[in-house]
Amino acid sequence: MRILVTGAAGFIGSWLSERLLALGHEVTGIDCLTDYYPPQIKRRNIETSVRNPLFKFLEQDLLNTDLTRLLDGCEVVFHQAAQAGVRASWGTDFGIYVNNNILATQRLLEAAKGPALKRFVFASSSSVYGNAQKMPVSEDDPTHPMSPYGVTKLSAENLCQLYHKNFGIPTVSLRYFTVFGPRQRPDMAFHKFIRAMLGGDALPIFGNGEQTRDFTFVEDAVNANILAMEKGRNGAIYNIGGGSRISLNRAIELLEGVTGKEAKRSQSESQKGDVLHTWADTTRARNELGFAPKYDFEQGLRREFEWMASLRL
Ligand SMILES: NC(=O)c1ccc[n+]([C@@H]2O[C@H](COP(=O)([O-])OP(=O)(O)OC[C@H]3O[C@@H](n4cnc5c(N)ncnc54)[C@H](O)[C@@H]3O)[C@@H](O)[C@H]2O)c1
Repeated sequence: MRILVTGAAGFIGSWLSERLLALGHEVTGIDCLTDYYPPQIKRRNIETSVRNPLFKFLEQDLLNTDLTRLLDGCEVVFHQAAQAGVRASWGTDFGIYVNNNILATQRLLEAAKGPALKRFVFASSSSVYGNAQKMPVSEDDPTHPMSPYGVTKLSAENLCQLYHKNFGIPTVSLRYFTVFGPRQRPDMAFHKFIRAMLGGDALPIFGNGEQTRDFTFVEDAVNANILAMEKGRNGAIYNIGGGSRISLNRAIELLEGVTGKEAKRSQSESQKGDVLHTWADTTRARNELGFAPKYDFEQGLRREFEWMASLRL
């Protein structure tokens, strides 16, 4: 199939592109290599894909690309591009979030009205829930984002629903719960922790470390995308969680085991926008998509550590 991956040079988009190429699909990847983190990291992420003749990479911004032309002949869109990160979404940078998360999605959906797409998969986020009232949280539970980032992801998800209802675009939204693994973004906790451990520095911890997350290994997130393409129900929203909900303190203990080093900790106040706990009810994804996470947490953490160690930071 002919497939468009937006945000193709990012953490999740680059792995997804590689998997689609391995499955024999023709993939166009678009990414403007925003400076949210260093563009050279993103170039490295796509090193393998750009050598594949089935891959075409466009270093372009969704906000000023002719998207109607881009979608001509395209059968499936995986929309991964976004300005990520909860903590940076306050203040003057909010405009970047509005542009890259809401406006870019709306432009893409407008362009998708014409062609007969088979699937439009949107990368949503657990951040749409905020501090959920009930755990594990399911897709029909209320959404009360706690951060401006979460607000923009929920808006984009709502736009997908609107364009599905009004124009029949076959959208599927996947609410990822904290994704980790090789190529994880440098602003994310395990990337920072492993970097600190390798350098003998203290791990930056916000709050008392008892906050819990449902961590999802990146290959499981990629599998969820493939399943959404093949079996997703038009207009549906699915939680995608790894099923290994643990506290930050426990994660650090496991990291000590993986690295063979004792962690030094530098504790500071919890950050505005951070939620206390996340825990996905993935019943819908299991029943409708056949989604079943394959990686246990420690295994995934080891893979991320090995990757970072190989970078010789
Ligand atoms: N990583 C996670 O834990 C997580 C959790 C929930 C949701 N998500 C969502 O998953 C998606 C991928 O996240 P990631 O962690 O891989 O982030 P990432 O920052 O590594 O990748 C996003 C990519 O999108 C590109 N991009 C941004 N705006 C663009 C634009 N206007 N035009 C073209 N390219 C643009 C960036 O350059 C970047 O390479 C995002 O939509 C994010 O909101 C991620």
